[in-house]
Amino acid sequence: MYKIFVTREIPGFGINFLKKQKNFHVTISPYDRVLNKQEIIKYTKGVDAFLCMFTDKIDGSLMDKIGPQLKIIANYAVGFDNIDIKAAKERGIMVTNTPGVLTEAVAEHAIALLFAVARRVVEADQFTRDGKYEGLAPMLFLGPEIAGKTLGIVGLGRIGSEVAKRMRDGFGLKIIYYDEFRNQELENRLGIQYVTLNQLLKTSDFISAHVPLLPSTRHLFGEKEFKLMKNSAYLINTSRGPVIDEKALVCALKKKIIQGAALDVFEFEPRLAPGLAQLDNVVLTPHIASATIEARGKMGELAAQSIIDALSGKKPQNLVVI
Ligand code: GLV
Ligand code: GLV
Repeated sequence: MYKIFVTREIPGFGINFLKKQKNFHVTISPYDRVLNKQEIIKYTKGVDAFLCMFTDKIDGSLMDKIGPQLKIIANYAVGFDNIDIKAAKERGIMVTNTPGVLTEAVAEHAIALLFAVARRVVEADQFTRDGKYEGLAPMLFLGPEIAGKTLGIVGLGRIGSEVAKRMRDGFGLKIIYYDEFRNQELENRLGIQYVTLNQLLKTSDFISAHVPLLPSTRHLFGEKEFKLMKNSAYLINTSRGPVIDEKALVCALKKKIIQGAALDVFEFEPRLAPGLAQLDNVVLTPHIASATIEARGKMGELAAQSIIDALSGKKPQNLVVI
């Protein structure tokens, strides 16, 4: 009998896939909240597979407490900065993620945030609900037009490429991008232009971050970068919170060094930097970029399939390699 622990109820058929396996004993956390370290240890001790969330921080000492029988950690996310991959490798534990199936969902949310902050949808909604609307006013909630503007994509992976494609073909923006690795074939296919990060910061009207969290991308956006950006620019982040120095962002937004920001992820989530929630020129969502019924369902299926493969001696498809 293989023991599998899942840290959170997830939508779709993933858990059922696991439960249907004859020799699998599946336990799901009884709490619909983030487990603390002691609880994780209690529930994972002795398991063969662990289906975990971005909110579970998994290091070598936790792997040791789970025990040497642990074969696979299936992360219910595409980003895997919550797991010490090196420690897993040293212990011969497989780690998998869920790429591909959430690409559209995250791209759509990045675009939704861009529109929401530029066209002031959230502020205007609040104003209307508050009963402040007294009739059409020419100066009310002015914002920039989006068509014809320049969007800078930082990180041209799957998600960054989808945002680029949709914003260029669907909404008529000029797209420039910066990535650690230039991809000329892809840029030609998408009809977009490669620039240095400095050029991107200086010339973009909107900037959308799509990089993984790495030592080289931590605080990729800080005081210096905000100063290079246009005063009229907006920053969108659906990648990882620490990619932005959030304290410096609050300061830049207060001083109108940049015009606005829309964030789905936070440097110290679920906490927000002091002052962020009090600003009008931000739109904030609680890490929901992949939260479509389709994406979250398929993420569960992929994670379940990885566990089934790993425990039946096959190589899972989405092994994380470093
Ligand atoms: C969510 O943040 C993910 O990485 O899938
Ligand atoms: C994630 O899937 C990415 O490559 O952007």
